[in-house]
Amino acid sequence: MGSQLLDAPALPADLAFGLLAEVSADQHPQKVSLIAGAYRDENGKPWILPSVKEAKQRLAADPTAHHEYLGIAGSPAFLDIARSLILGTEVAERSNVASIQTVSGTGANHLAASFLARHLKPQQVLIPDPTWVNHKTVWEVAAPAVAQKEYPYYDPDTRSIKFADMIATLETTSQPNDVVILQACAHNPTSLDLSRDQWKSVAEVARRKKLFILFDSAYQGFATGDVENDAWSVRYFTAHLLSSPDPDQRIPGLCVAQSFSKNFGLNGERVGALHVVAPPDVSLEGTHSQLSLIARAEYSNPPRFGTQIVQTVLSDPGLRQQWQQNLNTMSDRIRSMRKQLRARLEALGTPGEWSHIDSQIGMFSYTGLSAGQVARLKQEYHIYMLPSGRVSICGLNEGNVDYVAESISEVVKAGLT
Ligand SMILES: Cc1ncc(COP(=O)(O)O)c(C=O)c1O
Repeated sequence: MGSQLLDAPALPADLAFGLLAEVSADQHPQKVSLIAGAYRDENGKPWILPSVKEAKQRLAADPTAHHEYLGIAGSPAFLDIARSLILGTEVAERSNVASIQTVSGTGANHLAASFLARHLKPQQVLIPDPTWVNHKTVWEVAAPAVAQKEYPYYDPDTRSIKFADMIATLETTSQPNDVVILQACAHNPTSLDLSRDQWKSVAEVARRKKLFILFDSAYQGFATGDVENDAWSVRYFTAHLLSSPDPDQRIPGLCVAQSFSKNFGLNGERVGALHVVAPPDVSLEGTHSQLSLIARAEYSNPPRFGTQIVQTVLSDPGLRQQWQQNLNTMSDRIRSMRKQLRARLEALGTPGEWSHIDSQIGMFSYTGLSAGQVARLKQEYHIYMLPSGRVSICGLNEGNVDYVAESISEVVKAGLT
């Protein structure tokens, strides 16, 4: 091997996408991919939601459709709808909100990090431990000057949220204007969300310590199956932390990185938005223009096609209702697979406790399998999951759940750690 061009050492493959490439290359007939947070139907195939299919047909038949640029900030009609979906109609219409279309949820996180690093200049960004594998990378690339600090979130011994430690860390290590990343619902990878009382306690610390909140909302509709319920945390924070006329009683601001990848099955179309919410007496004109500047420099214009699909579905009452049913279909199937996996593991007498697989929410399960067990499942059984033991329940179906349960059971019984 020759030397590298410039100071650019070769990096290992991305954790999740590297594993997905391994799955594609694996020719074993029984291989099972439990990696991607992307819905699969009962045959293990990607699912085009019927509401999305119908919207596509309408768009294809529209004689006025074209492929012109959408504009730097994206489609205003889409942004109005997206904002209402997560913030609720009242706040979306009345409050001080600056919205911009993004390259899905990742793009929204990235844009938030770039913007906040330039204009809020926080000392730190506080990130849950554990969290979505990309949060740290996004901040490292978009905001290298901001120190990253993890706050405890998950206790593997009790398989529950380390809430007292989480609050203590936020309380003792944060400075005013630090950014706190909170996942709005269906936490990736743990599948454990705070209770409403716990959310209220976090809000209280944020208010007292003057923290800037960055909500990451990638799974609205997947926690409870109901989009309104799943927006509760975001709506509670916007209602209680930004409304006071007294700056001492409120936080500096809040933003929401919103993804439509999962709840519309549009992973590859890159549909998302970033909403910045400020107290009512604070102008967001500068914010909107600065966000647009970053967008212009990075990709100039966001993608049009997926946005039009979401806009078509959410603006038509009939299609919107159909979409809610599609969400139910997805979340019901995931719930059923949770139950089946747990039941089979228990019926096989697999050592350990498996009720968490059924009680966790969202797309994933944090199984508690060790890195060694995960490696063995890959090598011997061609079953793929993240080294943390996180599985995407979407990858399970009637055709493979027995094989997965039996394989896990054998590996656990073999006593591997
Ligand atoms: C917590 C979280 N945030 C954001 C994203 C971003 O997804 P996308 O860029 O596809 O919208 C994901 C995807 O897995 C996620 O799990």
